[in-house]
Amino acid sequence: MSKAIVVIPGDGIGEEITAAAVAVLRRADHKHSLGLVFETHQAGGAALDLYGLPLPERTVAAARQADAILLGAVGGPKWDAVQPELRPEKAILGLRKALGLYANLRPIRVPASLSEYSPLKPEIVSDIDILIVRELTGGIYFGDHCEATVIDGVEKAWDIEVYSVPEVSRIVALACQAATLRRGRVVSVDKANVLASSRLWRRTAEQAAEKYAGVTLSHMYVDNCAMQLALAPKNFDVIVTSNLFGDILSDEAAVLGGSIGMMPSASLGEGPGLYEPIHGSAPDIAGKGIANPVGAILSAAMLLRHSLTAETAAVSIERAVDKVLADGYRTADLYRPGLTEVSTEDMARLIERNI
Ligand code: NAI
Ligand code: MG
Repeated sequence: MSKAIVVIPGDGIGEEITAAAVAVLRRADHKHSLGLVFETHQAGGAALDLYGLPLPERTVAAARQADAILLGAVGGPKWDAVQPELRPEKAILGLRKALGLYANLRPIRVPASLSEYSPLKPEIVSDIDILIVRELTGGIYFGDHCEATVIDGVEKAWDIEVYSVPEVSRIVALACQAATLRRGRVVSVDKANVLASSRLWRRTAEQAAEKYAGVTLSHMYVDNCAMQLALAPKNFDVIVTSNLFGDILSDEAAVLGGSIGMMPSASLGEGPGLYEPIHGSAPDIAGKGIANPVGAILSAAMLLRHSLTAETAAVSIERAVDKVLADGYRTADLYRPGLTEVSTEDMARLIERNI
């Protein structure tokens, strides 16, 4: 049976890095008989130029029908002056909403060969393998807001954190499911000593995790988690947390590896999953053939794992990436004297050859 992958290159380096990821996926398909069929669609600035909208209906319709979506990045200075509701970045929010994507997954892996690029000591980060699962459609970002209002002569504003049992249940279940493919340990991060919403989160997490016999759930306060990520990141397997805490912790964790160009992500929900590197369209290096395609390639591996249940093929891509890095090949962002500098395309070809 064939699997439809909608590819949305987007803007800037999006074109180059998605081409690299598709080349690697084709190779994995050839080796593992996955039946992949690719279809390219537009979103972001590219779509704005062509159709006058950052997220055309035809792109949304194709995404809904797909088995999975691979996205490059959207945005760039060319569209800085457009009105807010037409901004290229609206495409991402629109796709999240259209596809009901409630979970954001960010793996942070630091292969030994890259540990020296980290702001932390190599021995602290070498061989880190963490998965952060962030709730994406609830919490304080979506609760009631009150813009600055004067009450009794004092100006005030507020934002309300709301979580429901079904929202917490489904994100924790997803984290437990992901943990079954890993080391089976989930840390749920909250602030239950202070927040009522966190106390509901904690007790719901306990219930949701009961169904996963091979998974051990523990709890950590968010302030402690922020410290532990810098002190002993290797102790983590899966972290599951709210929208706000996840936003902050995932950015903290993303720098452990040294280059933003290496980091993949997945957004999962009721419909097809959306996979994209965490970086943006990098207009400063677009069109030069020097962008690091590894974030996009590892996003493609996540696509195989989470949307196509092709774990073996996913691992074969991840191993190939590790091998090429261990052999000393680097794109410009990670180049050091003594290593071999390669282009975006060459990096993809080397990874293909190692699958
Ligand atoms: P950025 O992530 O595009 O770039 C930040 C820095 O990292 C730049 O120096 C860039 O050259 C470098 N970089 C990023 N990816 C790289 C890669 N694969 N290989 C080598 N170097 C890489 O963030 P910036 O500059 O703040 O945003 C540029 C545009 O991208 C903006 O329009 C922004 O709104 C948009 N953006 C889009 C995102 C998305 O599509 N999900 C996410 C973040 C930003
Ligand atoms: Mg953020």
